[in-house]
Amino acid sequence: MIIRLLLVWPFLSILIGAIVYVIELRRVDDLVKDLAVSESRPFTYDNVDYLNSDEPAHRLLLRERNEEHIRMGHFIAVALYNRARQKVNEVIRPGFDKDLIGWHKQDLIAADGMRYKSFYLDRKISVHVLVPLINGSEEIVGYFEGVYLTDRETMSAIQARTTASLVQVVVIILATAITLYPIIMALNKDLLRLSVDLSQANIGMLKVLGSAVAKRDSDTNAHNYRVTLYAIRFAEAIGLGADSIRSLIKGAFLHDVGKIGVSDTILLKPGKLNGKEFAIMKTHPRHGEDIIGRYAWLKDALSVVRYHHEKFDGSGYGAGLKGEDIPLQARLFAIVDVFDALTSRRPYKEPLPFVAAMRIIRQESGAHFDPRLINIFEGIAWDLFEKIGSVADAAVEMELDALVEKYFNTSKTDNVQYDQFRKNL
Ligand SMILES: [Fe+2]
Repeated sequence: MIIRLLLVWPFLSILIGAIVYVIELRRVDDLVKDLAVSESRPFTYDNVDYLNSDEPAHRLLLRERNEEHIRMGHFIAVALYNRARQKVNEVIRPGFDKDLIGWHKQDLIAADGMRYKSFYLDRKISVHVLVPLINGSEEIVGYFEGVYLTDRETMSAIQARTTASLVQVVVIILATAITLYPIIMALNKDLLRLSVDLSQANIGMLKVLGSAVAKRDSDTNAHNYRVTLYAIRFAEAIGLGADSIRSLIKGAFLHDVGKIGVSDTILLKPGKLNGKEFAIMKTHPRHGEDIIGRYAWLKDALSVVRYHHEKFDGSGYGAGLKGEDIPLQARLFAIVDVFDALTSRRPYKEPLPFVAAMRIIRQESGAHFDPRLINIFEGIAWDLFEKIGSVADAAVEMELDALVEKYFNTSKTDNVQYDQFRKNL
């Protein structure tokens, strides 16, 4: 969060600083224009009476006044025009360009009202102004044109003001960031807590739903817990990513959720199912899809729920998929589901010894199971059986809880990043 704020600070400083700079430049333009216009005003009033006179004495007086103005004020060039826009006189301060008056003529000359244009001269702001001269009857009797040059003090004051505005922007943005930081952090923490609550609620729902199914055909959740744990460890062994493992966990918990849609007479029948009954039993992956498919958070569990009874050679049921068309999580889950069924006690059978169970699993390589996965499973099966298949149910549940916590980040709220949560949820 600090890094983000530190990155945003210079970005905002530059952006807002640039906006402030442009506004400041416009203000400076207006300021200098106002200075130029106010300085030209008394001077122009003095000349109104003589502008349209051909008397040599009047012309001389006008020139003398212009020369005095150039000496005393900030204008470095002035020119006067009569009513017919003919130039009456023009004075340029010594040392400046003799064509100064003509520089912006095209921009200004067509205007009847006051016009101005600012530009830089010797790194100082200058304003070229054209002011209509009006007599007592509000008639335009001529025009004053002048080039105003700011003095060093005014320029320094303008620069100091612009710099101060920019520094102010940077400081205000930094102060805002520092003030907002604890507020954002507090809100973020609340959000994290809510995310954890939500995550825990979802996991709880997952367990409840899985248990509800397990209760229908067995007394405990042990099978669900063991196959989920086997599936996680197997997935880790083949290097599956965290996203896929999260889908696998959801799918493993809920793999037989569709059995809710199968009647008790078939589900709890002690003997072998007849053809018609088995056909109904085979609908449970589709029921599973109907149940969880509409909930976005569970959608990724479908790869296991919908396809866990597919077989690698295409002879399974569900959607009739074959080979690698069957989602990887379903191919992987099918192995651990059968492995646990073989090695665990059921009301109607004793557990098979590990070696006997593995013999059956191996025989199904390429038929029921993906042979490449079987090769890997053979390498880890004994270890899994020892740590999961041969221990008490409570220990399995504890280890599973720890792994669910790891993959869904349902604890340690202070250390968990919100992005990670959002991804998980
Ligand atoms: Fe099933």
